[in-house]
Amino acid sequence: MKKDRFVPKEELLRQEEIANALSSYWKEQGKTPLAMVITYGCQQNENDSERIRGMLSQMGYGFTENKEEADLILFNTCAVREGAEQRVLGNVGALKHLKKRNPELIVGICGCMMQQQQVAEQIKSKYRHVSLVFGTHVVHRLPELLSETVMKKRRVFCTDDSEGVIAEDIPILREADCKAWVSVMYGCNNFCTYCIVPYVRGRERSRKPEKILAEIKILAERGVKEITLLGQNVNSYGKDADFGMDFADLLREVNKIDGIFRIRFMTSHPKDMSDRLIDAMAECDKVMPQLHLPFQAGSTRVLSEMNRKYTKEQYLALVEKVRAKLGAISMTSDIIVGFPGETEEDFQETLDVLEKVRFDSVFSFIYSKRTGTPAATMDNQVPEEVQHERFERLLELQNRISREINEEYFEKTVELLVEGASKTDSGVLSGRTPEGKIVNFPDDGETKTGDLITVKITKVSTWSLAGEKIG
Ligand code: SAH
Ligand code: SF4
Ligand code: F3S
Repeated sequence: MKKDRFVPKEELLRQEEIANALSSYWKEQGKTPLAMVITYGCQQNENDSERIRGMLSQMGYGFTENKEEADLILFNTCAVREGAEQRVLGNVGALKHLKKRNPELIVGICGCMMQQQQVAEQIKSKYRHVSLVFGTHVVHRLPELLSETVMKKRRVFCTDDSEGVIAEDIPILREADCKAWVSVMYGCNNFCTYCIVPYVRGRERSRKPEKILAEIKILAERGVKEITLLGQNVNSYGKDADFGMDFADLLREVNKIDGIFRIRFMTSHPKDMSDRLIDAMAECDKVMPQLHLPFQAGSTRVLSEMNRKYTKEQYLALVEKVRAKLGAISMTSDIIVGFPGETEEDFQETLDVLEKVRFDSVFSFIYSKRTGTPAATMDNQVPEEVQHERFERLLELQNRISREINEEYFEKTVELLVEGASKTDSGVLSGRTPEGKIVNFPDDGETKTGDLITVKITKVSTWSLAGEKIG
């Protein structure tokens, strides 16, 4: 890997100094400014937002969930589907009035959408109330960019087109206390023909193993029990470098860290799911029995048009191999419906994979045209009604399968890592099984976030399980 992919220490120190200067500026003003960070998209973006909050805190900011009292509203955006982009533009547009009432308010947009030059340009010319825009490759420069907006009252736009960098040791304010996301690599080299991610996240670049392991050790000392290793395609970890370590080796090292109980990872690309990794999963006691292995489409012809580099048969054989070595682990997948040229027969192949594999759950998406990707200009786009109709049939089938799998949990005893209060019910706590299933149970007043407990399942539904604590 090229050396200049690592942001030099001096540059990070420079950012830290600017952050401290802004913090002093606020102190002099006798003010604790409040920031609201709104995140769209995948865990990678959530993880970036945690870093953004870390830097904001260093710059003297507190946090709010209330737009009316915010001094800074920052949207960390996702570009993967058009729907996600429209939602952001709608929400940013709606802030125009608030900005009129409160001219000191800074509205900012960052993340994957801003790596697309045409979108950043559109914001510059049509969303005049937005005064801070930056892309995914310059997140570590937030202190400099925000200071310029605050102190010089300038509109600041910073999107660079490089292949991306790795910035280490940036302050981070994490969302949860018992579990944490840890990025092991950034970017993607796969260029699936429908996907914008390689264009907005740059080339694959792996963090040094010693940096990853040091981060996890610190988390373990702080009481974090579960780690999810993140990357667009974790199985190609290390291929861009000469660490002498691949993802399987990394997993074995993480497994040795005391205090961590559970390890998960995502996402795995089927073409890179090596025997070494399956063996590591089998041998590492803390690696949970769960695998997210997106297949995207069942038809081998469509898979080839998507540039996925495997056939339907190879995918099914891989699932069999995984199950033969790892037993009845929980499996999940991503699926795209209505890719250009998808016929009814092709779609039937997708349903066939669902029937054969019986995933615990799937994330299914209607194909969305992304400007700049090869699939956007394919001339056989599937009409919207057909896409929707296929999508509904897919959901119906998967809901039945998910429910049948969940029903097998009825009256079973499971181990849960308690994650905290349920998002929907008061007086109810929520935790996850080793397979990653959410279980709600009544709060007995004694159970704490991060506890490992035993629960008997008393109720099952398509989406979740409910139970009673028995130990
Ligand atoms: N790197 C991961 C996932 C990245 S994006 C992987 O390869 O599996 C998450 C999911 O969004 C993808 O798996 C795919 O199912 C979906 N997706 C990506 N581009 C899309 C598009 N243009 N339209 C619809 N869904 C898309
Ligand atoms: Fe997109 Fe394919 Fe890369 Fe996943 S592997 S991020 S779907 S290009
Ligand atoms: Fe979206 Fe960017 Fe993640 S496009 S899916 S937030 S990498």
